Amino acid sequence: MPNAIVPGSFDPITNGHLDIIERASHLFGQVTVAVAINSTKSPLFPLEERVEMTREVCSHLSNVTVGTFEGLLVEYAVQRGATAIVKGLRAVSDFEYELQMALMNRRLYPGVETVFMMTGAEYSYLSSSIVKEISRLGGSIEGLVPEIVEKRLRRKIGEK
Ligand code: PNS
Repeated sequence: MPNAIVPGSFDPITNGHLDIIERASHLFGQVTVAVAINSTKSPLFPLEERVEMTREVCSHLSNVTVGTFEGLLVEYAVQRGATAIVKGLRAVSDFEYELQMALMNRRLYPGVETVFMMTGAEYSYLSSSIVKEISRLGGSIEGLVPEIVEKRLRRKIGEK
C-alpha cells in the first residue's frame, strides 16, 4: 500500500482533521501527519504543543505517525517515502486554493499525487480558526475538537 502525508498547521487539530486522518489510515500503508513549522499564520499553540496534541489524539491509529516539516511539503513527502498528499475538502470555497497547491506540488514533484477527501458532512463548517474564535468568545466547542484539545484551548484562552 502506498504511504501518505496529511499536512496542516493543526492549530489545533479538530475532529474534522481527525476524521480525514482516520480515513486516510484505512486507505494507505504508513500515514505521516505533517505539522507545518513555518505556518504563515501566527499560531495560537507553539509547535511542540500542536505536535503533542496531534500525537495524543492519533495514538489509537497504529500506522499513523506525527512529524514536523519546514519548507516544501513535497520534499518532506519524498523524505518520508510518501507518494500521496491527502487533503480534506470542506466546500467549494476550499477548492481554488487547494487546486493551486496541488498543481504546484505536482509541477515541483510529479511523483507525489494529491488526493482529496470530502470532509464528513458534520464537519463541513469546521476549521481551527472558527474553533479558536468560539473558544475566545466563551462558546461551547464540545464535539468539534477532541476532549484534550478542548481542555488545552480553555486553558490557553484563559491565560490570555
Ligand atoms: O492547515 P493549513 O494551514 O491549511 O495547512 C497549509 C499547509 C501547511 C498544508 C500549506 O501551507 C503547505 O503545504 N505549506 C508548505 C509549503 C509548500 O510546500 N508550499 C508550496 C505548495 S504550493
